[in-house]
Amino acid sequence: MTTAASLAFAEHHQSEDEHLAAARRRADEVGVVPISPGAGAALSFLASAIGAKAVAEIGTGTGVSGLWLLRGMQAGGVLTSVDLEAEHQRLARETFTSAELAPQRFRLIAGAGLDVMPRLTDDGYDLVFLDGDKVEYGEYLEQAVRLVRPGGLIVFDNALWHDRVADPAQRDPETAAIRDVIKHVATDDRLRSVLLPLGDGLLVAQLLP
Ligand SMILES: C[S@@+](CC[C@H](N)C(=O)[O-])C[C@H]1O[C@@H](n2cnc3c(N)ncnc32)[C@H](O)[C@@H]1O
Repeated sequence: MTTAASLAFAEHHQSEDEHLAAARRRADEVGVVPISPGAGAALSFLASAIGAKAVAEIGTGTGVSGLWLLRGMQAGGVLTSVDLEAEHQRLARETFTSAELAPQRFRLIAGAGLDVMPRLTDDGYDLVFLDGDKVEYGEYLEQAVRLVRPGGLIVFDNALWHDRVADPAQRDPETAAIRDVIKHVATDDRLRSVLLPLGDGLLVAQLLP
């Protein structure tokens, strides 16, 4: 089995530049936990591999995952990102602007994921990234299946939730909701999935064409 040292090595396979470092500092200042460098690199890779032009994200934070995604998307691709906290989105805008991304490349919507997702376009996204309220992951999945185009990807962060998901003694609402989603994507005929042990775990599901 892979050791902790190898996982740490994989985590830093791709380095982060000063813009991602600044976004992490902003996250620290407001108490947001951003995606890890390894999981961010995986998001960017996935967006690039499918030639993503339209990505939706729930849980903008200060823009660490958003910047990784935007850098993997096609030139001119648009990230639509939703967050409850206007202050987090102000900091994410600072992240994207200082990384010289044109304002038309990101659409930041302030609101709750479950209020905004029903208003987004069916089949309108190549990739949907979910990193908001863990208890809502099951409902995010239902919405994401509608939003993503056939062949597109649905990605959940924190799929291992601080080692709690793998521990059957842990039954708090967040852990239980994440476990349910993992089970659901594995048994849903419309989806093919893989759980990547990068960062806090990335659950990736493809909507079969
Ligand atoms: C883990 S942080 C996101 C980090 C970000 N994806 C990154 O890697 O840089 C979670 C974010 O989700 C937001 N959030 C929490 N509950 C939410 C909800 N129900 N709808 C939308 N956003 C929510 C929080 O305000 C916070 O900014």
